[in-house]
Amino acid sequence: MPRQLFVTTALPYANAPFHIGHMMEYIQADIWVRHQRMAGNVVHFVCADDAHGAPIMIAAEKAGKTPQQFVVDIAAGRKQYLDGFHIGFDNWHSTDGAENHELAQQIYRDLKTNDLIETKTIEQFFDPEKQMFLPDRFIKGECPKCGAKDQYGDNCEVCGAVYAATELKDPYSALSGVTPVLRNSEHYFFKLSDPRCLAFLDQWTQEEGHLQTEVYNKIKEWLTPNDDGVRDLGDWDISRDAPYFGIEIPDAPGKYFYVWLDAPIGYLASLKNYLGKIGIDYHAFMADPATEQYHFIGKDIITFHTLFWPAMLHFSGRKTPNAVFVHGHLTVNNEKMSKSRGTGIDPLKYLNIGMNPEWLRYYIAAKLNSRNEDLDFVGQDFMQRVNSDLVGKFINIASRSAGFLSKRFSGKLGVTSPDGAGLLDILRAKADELQQHYEGRDYGRALREIMLLADRVNEYVDQNKPWELAKQDGMDARLHDVCTVCIEAFRLLTLYLKPVLPTLAAQVESFLNIAAMQWPDATRSLGLGHTIGDYKHLMQRVDSKQIEALFELQADAKVTAAVGTEHSRVESGLPGGEAIAPTITIDDFTRIDLRIAKIVRCEKVEGSTKLLRLTLDVGEGNDADGNAITRNVFSGIASSYQPEQLTGQLTVLVANLAPRKMKFGISQGMVLAASAADEKSLPGIYLLNPGPGAIPGMRVR
Ligand code: 2FM
Ligand code: ZN
Repeated sequence: MPRQLFVTTALPYANAPFHIGHMMEYIQADIWVRHQRMAGNVVHFVCADDAHGAPIMIAAEKAGKTPQQFVVDIAAGRKQYLDGFHIGFDNWHSTDGAENHELAQQIYRDLKTNDLIETKTIEQFFDPEKQMFLPDRFIKGECPKCGAKDQYGDNCEVCGAVYAATELKDPYSALSGVTPVLRNSEHYFFKLSDPRCLAFLDQWTQEEGHLQTEVYNKIKEWLTPNDDGVRDLGDWDISRDAPYFGIEIPDAPGKYFYVWLDAPIGYLASLKNYLGKIGIDYHAFMADPATEQYHFIGKDIITFHTLFWPAMLHFSGRKTPNAVFVHGHLTVNNEKMSKSRGTGIDPLKYLNIGMNPEWLRYYIAAKLNSRNEDLDFVGQDFMQRVNSDLVGKFINIASRSAGFLSKRFSGKLGVTSPDGAGLLDILRAKADELQQHYEGRDYGRALREIMLLADRVNEYVDQNKPWELAKQDGMDARLHDVCTVCIEAFRLLTLYLKPVLPTLAAQVESFLNIAAMQWPDATRSLGLGHTIGDYKHLMQRVDSKQIEALFELQADAKVTAAVGTEHSRVESGLPGGEAIAPTITIDDFTRIDLRIAKIVRCEKVEGSTKLLRLTLDVGEGNDADGNAITRNVFSGIASSYQPEQLTGQLTVLVANLAPRKMKFGISQGMVLAASAADEKSLPGIYLLNPGPGAIPGMRVR
């Protein structure tokens, strides 16, 4: 009996384009879904934009749009990424859709009927200028524990303390800068601390298959009573006061569901919307005990999905997930992604510079397993794996044999001798095991096994050398036999890789003149006399220039504009409109090696209106030829200086900043300059000059 599955990935916030981390999750889920479909199972694979919440409402206001329009505009940008990386969602919806409003309100009513909703009056900060209650992230102030300035309302990034926003010293609104006032407000709570919820979650989280062991170990502390018999899991505040972009709470004027209540309900809403389009009754589908429900998510949103979400579903009388699959984060060259530092990979740039999306699918799959572990994208490793495994081992099997079949045997397959048949049997015997690795999301294992099979096929090719058989008289039959085995082996390997490389597999199917392959096709063969088409090269190798281009910064990146952009800027009364950054220790400061540098040369950069190229003497001595060692630094100061103004001047260099590859070359440090946060309203960039007497190489402390 085919299985009937409903699969989702986390719904992305509708306030930014996708980053590479989104693509990783979608690729992981898409591979799983394709594997299921190849096994004959019916899968509905859906996603949506997570549209609600204060940050989106505020971003929309800043952009001068209604939140609805803002979200629609973001949604319009999704397709190019999804199509670009061959992600086959059946439906893309929005949590602001009608289905979600209706479902969220109904689930709430069901929880209420079950006596699991209560109200409590809480004291919260209110921005009198903006006339709104402030989410914790929009309140800043001094940490009550360590005194660090400009800390968010929920935790201190300097000392790690966790506190209530009301404990901050000298709080201010990050929206208006004014001091917020305390106001009472009635909030709605989902009574997760109710013994029924605790008992259910204790059981659900431990039931076989629902959670990965490491995920259960992470969340069990919420459920396990401490020595005093108290558990961490408290009631969950599910309401927010107007103005809020969200779904209205029934019979509670001015109250909206907190975005995290209606976000996962968006999974159901997108499914409902989709089933409506294809004429399947949503209620019947969800009531069917055969329906299986799976969510792919990242490790940062575990609690919502493994505690709040199953409880919401269960106590509103709905089906609970069969499993929540958690993956780790994607790092790039071992660094957490950060746009402002120019790290990370822009998925659209990847596509725009002509890189093959299936290379990325393959690389990510090769590094994924079933556990909640981080995955590192390393450029050289990516190139090596794609070139040596995918092209070198796999594609080559076809390119070394198909030509002979076309030229010498009119594309017709021949008779297979026992040695070749034995090899094909080895390949076929792996099908079940490979299916299980895909099923268990152990894609890395599956691909390793497939490449071992490819190695065996290549050994067979090397032993039989079709290119030599082709030159020998009387060896036609053997040549035909060997090439037939190679093509059948290539078909089987393509079938095994098909969940990961769907477009390549479709090209192979067309070249082989066969219908779309499914898992059961592993037991079949093309057969004597089957005619294949002409072979056209199926996949290029990665060129190291592409990797360089991928990591190259955009010419107009602000990174070299001499001022850091890492911490979020908050309006303040200071000139330049930027509040003082969080406190650091003297040790933090001394990690930055600032040196006096002499600008020995300064030039315009062709192709950039923003950058100047500086050649700096930092007192690093002479090279073997007796020439002074200098550094090349690009700086985004061209709008304020002519090159000749700077030549010969002294300035200050961050000398131990990691070198950064840019479109125009490598930048070996960063010079310091002052500017306003918003250069449009207060233009000008001012390079720092040391006082008289300073010499190149002196440390600034
Ligand atoms: O963390 C996030 O990006 C959320 N927008 C994920 C929501 S998943 C689901 F609950 F909608
Ligand atoms: Zn602190």
